[in-house]
Amino acid sequence: MGVPGCFHIIGLWAVGTFGECFHEQAGFLLGQGSGFKKVVMQFHWNNPQLKADYVDSSGMVLHLTKSKRTHNAGVLQVGQYYIQLSPGQEKIVVEGRCTPDMSRFRLKGPIHFTTGINHMHYLGRAMNMEHFRNGVKLRDLTMDEVYSYDSPVFHNYAESVRFEPGDEIKTSCHFKTTERSKTVFQGDGTNDEMCFGFLTYYPTENMINPYCIQWRGLDYSSFYYQETINGCTWKDFLNTSIPTTEALHTRVLSHCSKLGLCLKECVSVIKEAKKHPCLQGDMHEYFRHLAREDGAKNAPLARLFSALDSCYTEMAVESCPKPLTDPTSTSSTVQFSVFWIGAASVLRHIMK
Ligand SMILES: *[C@@H]1O[C@H](CO)[C@@H](O)[C@H](O)[C@H]1NC(C)=O
Repeated sequence: MGVPGCFHIIGLWAVGTFGECFHEQAGFLLGQGSGFKKVVMQFHWNNPQLKADYVDSSGMVLHLTKSKRTHNAGVLQVGQYYIQLSPGQEKIVVEGRCTPDMSRFRLKGPIHFTTGINHMHYLGRAMNMEHFRNGVKLRDLTMDEVYSYDSPVFHNYAESVRFEPGDEIKTSCHFKTTERSKTVFQGDGTNDEMCFGFLTYYPTENMINPYCIQWRGLDYSSFYYQETINGCTWKDFLNTSIPTTEALHTRVLSHCSKLGLCLKECVSVIKEAKKHPCLQGDMHEYFRHLAREDGAKNAPLARLFSALDSCYTEMAVESCPKPLTDPTSTSSTVQFSVFWIGAASVLRHIMK
């Protein structure tokens, strides 16, 4: 993700790994016919002291073979996009699920995992991916009781693990933040955090979308293929030219303060507004996140939320979700940590 035009991960490397040998039954199809014809390599470097004389001579060798493997391999990414870790905590657990519905949507038939690898950053202490079917746990996929960013472990399955549409993967990430004085968020920077799992699988022919990641309880990819999520028609909610959206903005902004004061006449207006399906539960939190993360790009949304949040304290009793802390700007000190090779596929562009 994050590489325009590329949709599939075909390899990854992280500090402390020596590369990956793929399963004898499966390989990545490159070149002629339906093979990948372009690859992009994404590097992340870290240079906290902004030294000017650092050089990097690292690289990667791709080994090609003429004796094609029986199956075409791909990489499935699972985990959680929403991370907000309070400082000073011994243990915080973040979970992301690839739910039965999510896996059913993504798979045309069973796939087989050959390798799994966990990925967090320096605050990660332990991690696991668990495989469930019909609510029953079948096995741990990547139990790292002690996780260390600098020495990730490839979990290889001598006998590949069959994963069926409707199966579930629960990813659990344990973080320790006693060394931090500020809240830590999800992000690419080494000082940000991640909670992702990567599973190499075959055959790619059974995969529709190799990203099965949540944002809180939402299917993160659903924004790309669903117009309505939990009853919320999100494009209309973000479009102030739509009369109902415009009416909502006008009503809230004309009754509520933009300066954080809770006006008496605002309380009942907010109560009414919060019945909107886009202002419920995780969707509400997602839009609040959008408003705060990029207020310039989402100016109307940012105004709406500052008005909606002006009576937060007064309405807290009514089980409003807690507002997000303003993201502290972590300096973009990205360690040479992980890089992806994404391959462009002409066949599938679900995520545009
Ligand atoms: C917003 O809605 C208007 C009216 O339906 C429509 O013409 C316009 O294309 C929409 N804008 C976006 C960005 O979807």
